[in-house]
Amino acid sequence: MNILLTGGMGYIGSHTATLLLNMGHQLHIYDNLCNSNIDTLDRIKKITSKEVGFTQGDIRDTKKLTEVLINEKIDAVIHLAGLKAVGESTQKPIEYYANNVQGSISLIQAMQAANIRTLVFSSSATVYGDPIYLPYDEEHPTSPTNPYGRNKLQIEEMLLDLANSDNTWSIARLRYFNPVGAHESGLIGEDPNGIPNNLMPVIGQVVDGRLPMLNIFGDDYDTPDGTGKRDYIHVMDLAEGHLAALTWLKGNLGCHTFNLGSGNSVSVLELLHCFENISGNKIPYQVVARRPGDLPEYYAKADKAAKILGWQTKRNLTDICNSSWLWFQNSKNKKST
Ligand SMILES: NC(=O)c1ccc[n+]([C@@H]2O[C@H](COP(=O)([O-])OP(=O)(O)OC[C@H]3O[C@@H](n4cnc5c(N)ncnc54)[C@H](O)[C@@H]3O)[C@@H](O)[C@H]2O)c1
Repeated sequence: MNILLTGGMGYIGSHTATLLLNMGHQLHIYDNLCNSNIDTLDRIKKITSKEVGFTQGDIRDTKKLTEVLINEKIDAVIHLAGLKAVGESTQKPIEYYANNVQGSISLIQAMQAANIRTLVFSSSATVYGDPIYLPYDEEHPTSPTNPYGRNKLQIEEMLLDLANSDNTWSIARLRYFNPVGAHESGLIGEDPNGIPNNLMPVIGQVVDGRLPMLNIFGDDYDTPDGTGKRDYIHVMDLAEGHLAALTWLKGNLGCHTFNLGSGNSVSVLELLHCFENISGNKIPYQVVARRPGDLPEYYAKADKAAKILGWQTKRNLTDICNSSWLWFQNSKNKKST
C-alpha cells in the first residue's frame, strides 16, 4: 500500500514508519517539523534500509497536501500530525483548535479532492474525561476536560459525520493510552522540542542533566503507593496497532473506534523504580502539588481491538524501560558529538 503519514517525523509517527516500511509498504511522510527533527528521516532509513518520501508542509496547506496525495498515488492516510500538550492547550486553545481541528478538516478536504477514502486517526483516551467506570471501554461516555481532548473529540465526531454522509469511507479512530518506550534499535525515541510533558522524556532529561530532578505531581492519590496510575503502552505495540487497523480497514467501510492500551495500569513510582533498576541510575525526584485535572488512575479495556483487529500489546514494563534507556544513551551521545 502507498501510505501518507501526517506527523510521521514525530514520536509515534517515526516508530510507525519503521514498522510499515519493514512490512513492505511504501511511505510518504508529511510534517512541518514543529515538534520534530529532520535527522529522524535518516534514522528511519537506517533502521529499515528502505527509502521513504518526505514533504515538509503544514496540514493546513490543503493545496500542497492534495498535490502530495495525488503525485505520490496514496491509497491510505495515517493522520498523526497535531499539537499534543494538554497543559499548553489550556494556555493556547485557539492555536490548538486551528492546528488540530482545522488541520484535520484540511486533510479530509485534500483526501476528498484526491479521492482517497481510507483513514486512520490518532485519537486519545483523553476524550473520555473523568471515569464513570474503569476500565474505559469504547462505549464509555466522552467528556474531555481540556481543549486538547475536545479537539480530539471534535475530530472524531467530524469523522463519524463524514462516514455517515458518504459510505465510501473506511475510518479507524484509535484512542491511544500512554505511549512510552523507544525503538529496539535505540535509534529513535521520544525527544520533544522544549520542555516535555510526559513522564519518560522527563526522566530522560534528568538522566542527561538537562533537568535537575523529576517532579511527581501528588503522592496522596487513592492508589497503592499514592502516585497516579496510567496505562503505558510500548510505542512499537502502538505502531503494530496502526498496521492492524489499516489492514482491517481494507475490507470494512464506516467509522470505527478502538482503544489501544495494555489493559493494565502502572504507577509513576513503579515505572521509575523499574527504570532505575534497568539503567542503574538513581533518578532524583520531588513530590509537588497535584496538577489540576489529573486523574488518580485510568486504563483501557482493549478487548475490542483484540477481537476485531487481532491486536494486543506484546511488550511489558521491562521492555519499555530497556528501550527507553538504550534511546537515552544513544541520544546523549548524539548531543555530545
Ligand atoms: N504521545 C502521546 O502521549 C499521545 C497520546 C494520545 C494521542 N496522541 C496523538 O498522536 C499523534 C502523534 O503524537 P506524538 O506523540 O508522536 O507527537 P509528536 O509531537 O512527537 O508528533 C507530531 C508530529 O506532527 C507534526 N505536526 C504538528 N502539527 C502539524 C501541522 N500543522 N502540519 C504538519 N505537521 C504537524 C510535528 O512536527 C510532529 O512531528 C498526535 O496527534 C497526538 O495528539 C499522542
